[in-house]
Amino acid sequence: MRELRFVKALTALENAEALDPIVNKVKGIVNTIIQPQPVRDVLHGVPVGHAVHPAIILVPAGAWISAGALDLIPGMEKASKFLVGLGVLSAAPAVATGYTDWSEMHEQQMRVGIVHSAANAVATGLYAVSFIQRARGKHTSGKVLGFVGLALVSGAGFIGGHLSYRQAAGVNHAEEIPHRFPEGWQLLGPLYDFADNELNKAEVAGLPLLVLRRGDKVEVLSNTCSHLSAPLNEGELVSGDGGDPCVVCPWHASVFSMTTGEVEAGPATAPQPRFETRVVDGVIEVLLPNAG
Ligand code: FES
Repeated sequence: MRELRFVKALTALENAEALDPIVNKVKGIVNTIIQPQPVRDVLHGVPVGHAVHPAIILVPAGAWISAGALDLIPGMEKASKFLVGLGVLSAAPAVATGYTDWSEMHEQQMRVGIVHSAANAVATGLYAVSFIQRARGKHTSGKVLGFVGLALVSGAGFIGGHLSYRQAAGVNHAEEIPHRFPEGWQLLGPLYDFADNELNKAEVAGLPLLVLRRGDKVEVLSNTCSHLSAPLNEGELVSGDGGDPCVVCPWHASVFSMTTGEVEAGPATAPQPRFETRVVDGVIEVLLPNAG
């Protein structure tokens, strides 16, 4: 089955460089306003292990869809007005989480994302005016504005789906590692081939690994950042809270513990797959629990 024409248009949007000036402007504003890092981490969803934006938009989207249904039933104006207002008020956290995630994406994702957010912004404005009209007793114009807003929100939702499922924004880019890595202990290489206290890159079964040797102790993570696939060995080795060695991703500065793989700071929300290690006759072996 062939793709519909408007899907091709959406794909073309990914390379619409004309959007870059507005993308850069909005990104600068978002990064100035949404601070400090712990606040950004909560908005990204670091504490819950995945993006929170898709869950938070359920409130305004649900309220507006319900208002649209009630608008078709005579005598439901009061309930419908309440839902329209609820949707407008609950849009704020959806905007905050969405823009925080968006501000640390690839440029193709940001171009699509800015159109997604613009459609939602116009829809929210229409719903705000719809609420005012309803409060003035002008229910017909309030309903018309609501239905136009609903069409825009639906279109924005489709674009958001393209962003997540086609462009893989907000998903765990390390999820497939356990499915691709072989079961059991695998040879990594001679212990002293790896520079001490540096980020080393290695490869086992075609998968890139990040290796940190400190004396005879070895920590190994997947080298592909769970956020958007950056090569972590090109990042920086730092000391985390409590002196734990951590790696800072070279692309968007997510911080991962080298000893646990846990996210110390976003935008990544999923941990890095961590490998168990042992040294047998001077050779490092690695094992990924649940692999295969
Ligand atoms: S690729 Fe974005 S933080 Fe690593």
